[in-house]
Amino acid sequence: MAAAGSGARAGHENWSSRSAFILAAVGSAVGLGNMWRFPAEAGENGGGAFVLFYIFCVLLIGLPVLLSEVLIGRHGQANAPESVRRVARDSKASEGWSVLASMGVFAAFLILSFYCVVGGWVIYYIGVFASDLFQTGLTGGAFEGRAAEDIEGLLPSLFGNGGLMVGLNLGFLAVTMFFVSRGVSSGIEWVAVYLMPLFFLLFLGITIYGAFTGNFNEAVAYLFTFDFSKLTGEVMLAAVGQAFFSLSLGVAGMMTYGAYANRETNLGETSGIIASADTGVALLAGLAIFPIVFAAGLSASIGPGLMFQSLPIAFQAMPFGSLIGLAFFIMVFFAALTSSVSLLEAPTAWVFEKFKLARPVATIIVGTGAAVLGALSGWFWGAPVPGVASLALFEGQDLFNVLDGVTAKLFMPIGAILTCIFVGWIADARLIDKENGLDGVLHQTWRALVRYVCPIVLAVILVVGLTG
Ligand code: PHE
Repeated sequence: MAAAGSGARAGHENWSSRSAFILAAVGSAVGLGNMWRFPAEAGENGGGAFVLFYIFCVLLIGLPVLLSEVLIGRHGQANAPESVRRVARDSKASEGWSVLASMGVFAAFLILSFYCVVGGWVIYYIGVFASDLFQTGLTGGAFEGRAAEDIEGLLPSLFGNGGLMVGLNLGFLAVTMFFVSRGVSSGIEWVAVYLMPLFFLLFLGITIYGAFTGNFNEAVAYLFTFDFSKLTGEVMLAAVGQAFFSLSLGVAGMMTYGAYANRETNLGETSGIIASADTGVALLAGLAIFPIVFAAGLSASIGPGLMFQSLPIAFQAMPFGSLIGLAFFIMVFFAALTSSVSLLEAPTAWVFEKFKLARPVATIIVGTGAAVLGALSGWFWGAPVPGVASLALFEGQDLFNVLDGVTAKLFMPIGAILTCIFVGWIADARLIDKENGLDGVLHQTWRALVRYVCPIVLAVILVVGLTG
């Protein structure tokens, strides 16, 4: 770790190794986006068409943007807006481009606020399964003797309890703040290095179990049958938004993590690893959740409740159900924590570098803001936001859904378009070529994607998705 206060890179820290960087970045990418949001979005957008277009977005748009972001961060070695400013300065371009990262930092803050609300639900389910385990013992299924509607009703009854929602949200945020306040190597990295491997182990076990016990074939058909007629502008925008959300893009998070990477790290290769791991987990999560949904005769399109309402019903029928349920939600908690840490880190790094504050102080400032906004979305759950809810994009939506939609469908794609224009057209090509770690055909392909394909495709999807 570089000593705090060393010269021009004051307060700047580094990952202790390349694998720590990879684990932290994979930790940021893999989270509620994969386990909770991906299945919910796939279900709401008709399955196969969404999923295949999502994979297309990850490969052709997400991956090139991911490399562009970590590359800006590594060159700048600072918080995201400052990194963009440094790349612009070294390219003799306008420093005004830093606005793309300022927007990102703000979006990260917005996402953090509602992400911790869902983090709170995860804590609630950990509690539910732990007490169930205590009551029914190790070997029995979960929730013995309780009706399916009863189990499904757990989430709505939590929604009805504003005070509990807010409390759990604050609990999740507090844990996130604890690790971010400890800094890069002793806080953020610690979470990633210990929790991510544990997550993968638990995840694999549960997926294999789901594949063998649920309605696997129906799930595969649902997720991978491509029906072109279902691919509307709205579905495409949802898929792009999900790809960005899942890869942590367009919100300065990956720029911030890239800034802690050292010169020796090959960014092209690292980006490939991050995108593969993230997409692999999302698809496997779909393959773990949908077989269970179909086997239990539940609807695939219920949206945000999917993971929380369908899986517990499945755990009821399983031997060791309470134990498996508990393990599952602990695993989701770990994955969510490594992501929320990155969401908090992006604005925090900006605040403490910009205003020359101590890291813990900046953490408290940003965390308090997110606590207030998150508490509002928990408290006003289900209440359409006055004014905003009358717009077509946010029809009848509450604060939670407006924040989710505005970040994934506006901030992230727009941030990504600006990033591509900046990296592809504005920044000095020699500087970019030196940083990206790609050669030959791969390099040419990446450059063409960033210059032409990504901005054009994104702009088209944005327009089509927003207008109809
Ligand atoms: N990628 C994270 C997830 O899938 C969420 C996230 C979005 C994290 C943006 C950081 C930045 O859960």
